[in-house]
Amino acid sequence: MSDINKINRFVRYVGVNDRKTHLFENLWPLPQGISYNAYLVIGEKIALIDTVEAAYTQALLDKISLAVGNRPLDYLVINHMEPDHSSSVNVVRQAYPDIQIVGNAKTLQMLEGYYGICKGTLEVKDGDNLCLGGESLRFYLTPMVHWPETMMTYCEQEHLLFSGDAFGAFGALNGAVLDQDMEPEAYWDEMYRYYANIVGKYGSPVQKALQKLSGLDIQVICPTHGPVWKKELKKVIAIYDKLSLYEGEKGVVIAYGTMYGNTARTAMHMAEELAASGLAPIIMHNLSVSPLSDVLRDIFKYKALVIGSPTYNAGLFPPVEALLNALTARTVKNRVYACFGSFTWAGAAAKKLQEFGNTMNWDSAGEALELKQGYSREKTEACSLLAKSIVAKL
Ligand code: FEO
Repeated sequence: MSDINKINRFVRYVGVNDRKTHLFENLWPLPQGISYNAYLVIGEKIALIDTVEAAYTQALLDKISLAVGNRPLDYLVINHMEPDHSSSVNVVRQAYPDIQIVGNAKTLQMLEGYYGICKGTLEVKDGDNLCLGGESLRFYLTPMVHWPETMMTYCEQEHLLFSGDAFGAFGALNGAVLDQDMEPEAYWDEMYRYYANIVGKYGSPVQKALQKLSGLDIQVICPTHGPVWKKELKKVIAIYDKLSLYEGEKGVVIAYGTMYGNTARTAMHMAEELAASGLAPIIMHNLSVSPLSDVLRDIFKYKALVIGSPTYNAGLFPPVEALLNALTARTVKNRVYACFGSFTWAGAAAKKLQEFGNTMNWDSAGEALELKQGYSREKTEACSLLAKSIVAKL
């Protein structure tokens, strides 16, 4: 087997890359594909850690054979039951009929519910240890990172954590598996996007998991998506810590809806005033054009947020409303916030956006700007004051 799949002497990467699926969860764009990562820990006994999405089961089985030949697998550890990792379980069990499936009580309940499997399982509890002979695995329950059954598995001898979705990134792997064997730059934005889209609702469980794992001597993180982190380990943990605390970096996102361009011109006016106040970076998203996935990534990344919307059917423009729903679902916290709205005959957007900021308990930079009918430069002073207030709060 090629060395590129070797994490170390006892741990092998047997994951696969998906460059055919357009939407993850049939929802989130995958312009660079995605990897479904699975691993073998090879002691006197062999454990497979997670499987892959069902369309790639044969590739997984081929990689396992390449790694261990005819040796049977003794255990399949399921860290996470979401089908992108578990939907090969039945076929793996057909290939290895004596394999024992290892999971916690919630995992085993889901295993039966999804795949009708209720025999040949081994239930583990938080802190339990599984000896493979030479290597051993310890299990840490980390509920809601990203589902209730989620757990992580620590290989004690190798100081290596199988972290499930945590620390994962969108983007298929392009040959190399370990970050030190690749140029990982392209994965940072995809890590932010993965977190904001998939895990973003669960900041508090992520914090609990980070605290639970803080006493371990972790030297390698093997997530279920994206690169294996070794060289960039500290950076990856710092990103997760910051994201799960909803701590944005200095910078502003201007996310707006527009029908005929007047609200867009107001957004541009705000951007100019912010730039004139010395703020950078400024990221603008026309919500009818930018994928929600990218907008969420940037809002999670940066501390200040400006939202603008036309009034539409006495409410918000639908793409703006969709963004607000996504932010509410993720309970995004700690944002410096400003907003503006436009209308033709009866204003509603500005008021609704202002109320939204209050509901989210965000730090308001000032009263909502309101524009009646066509855009005009008259709002320069108000825009400038709002921009200065945002800058002062960052
Ligand atoms: Fe990659 Fe929550 O599954």
